[in-house]
Amino acid sequence: MIEFAPISLPTFLAEYWQKKPILFRNALPDFQTPLSPEELAGLSLEEEVESRIVLQHGAQDYQLRRGPFTEADYAALPEKNWTLLVQGCDRLVPEVADLLNDFDFLPRWRIDDIMISYATEGGNVGPHFDHYDVFLMQASGQRRWLLTHQDCHEDNYIQGVDLRLMEKFVVEDEMVLNPGDILYLPPKVGHHGIALDDQCMTFSIGYRSYRGQELWDSFGDHLSENAEFKTLYLDPELNAGLAPGEVTLAAAQQAKALFEQKLQQEATLHAWFARFATQLDQTASQMLPEPLTEEETPSLDAFIDALYAEVGLIRDSVCRFAFARIDHQVTLFINGSQWADFGVPAGFIELLANQSFLTQEMLEPWLDQPSVQALLFDLWQLQFLTFIE
Ligand code: SIN
Ligand code: CO
Repeated sequence: MIEFAPISLPTFLAEYWQKKPILFRNALPDFQTPLSPEELAGLSLEEEVESRIVLQHGAQDYQLRRGPFTEADYAALPEKNWTLLVQGCDRLVPEVADLLNDFDFLPRWRIDDIMISYATEGGNVGPHFDHYDVFLMQASGQRRWLLTHQDCHEDNYIQGVDLRLMEKFVVEDEMVLNPGDILYLPPKVGHHGIALDDQCMTFSIGYRSYRGQELWDSFGDHLSENAEFKTLYLDPELNAGLAPGEVTLAAAQQAKALFEQKLQQEATLHAWFARFATQLDQTASQMLPEPLTEEETPSLDAFIDALYAEVGLIRDSVCRFAFARIDHQVTLFINGSQWADFGVPAGFIELLANQSFLTQEMLEPWLDQPSVQALLFDLWQLQFLTFIE
């Protein structure tokens, strides 16, 4: 877990999370970057990796280039003032995914991804604000951050630039981050980070942001997939002499009453939200592992023998596991689906959802139960869980 000194975790959760920025000095004292700038650049050559390069040519003159890049692209870059950004590095590099364990003080399903940037001296992506919470961790080199709460609205932007950058930026706070320092920013706080050297790498642990529309649409999809909402609409009390052409407010309120009835059903609401929270985005869905073929799958017994012999199991970094207590029953959710759990004990579902890896020691007390064996076998065949190397 990260070091919250001089405040504590409860203070962070109560007073800062989604409310105000805070800088944690030396939050991960032993942190060493698992990825070099060259390795990051290597990722940006890949077709399926989302990468960008931002160059600054003048005060409000920025250029955005989208990957995949080639070695020739890199050879042609100027010496200074550019940044490479690679999205979803936690899904690409297991050592980067390991870093997420340090953020388990928040629900894992709230995390979107880890984006990593590498910048040459002067490199920056311009002053901007985001709509999501983020921990900006300095991984190597130094970066100066400028912050503002002012003018963080859609109308304040530099015209003619492919990036959404703030035209007006009144600096309220300023700080230089060293390796291991973490700056937390809630949504809609203006920030502008300028690399101070050619070693500057920043890890952005970004959280998901949900707009009401997205939630509403997803809830509707859930109801129609489960054919759950068949209650019939009833007219309001009608009066003799009504205007046949009018849609009254009372008529609309009958629809509202119907919605409200549905929303009162907490088990439905809860199951939908757990599905929503574990849903993969399009990029992640395309990165799901290939299931084992029949020829590659040994018998259940051989699998269990291997489990006793191996170090443990690790969750594929693309997969999202979570559990929810619905109607007093612990229910498993994986990648946007309610999962058939073979009736495993509640404690095992919680373990599976809470831990990104399951060591031999954690598994041992459960392994003699046929339901646990069946569930692990299922998840291993899908390669959602693989043996720890
Ligand atoms: C960066 O790493 O340069 C930018 C991160 C951000 O502003 O969100
Ligand atoms: Co940002």
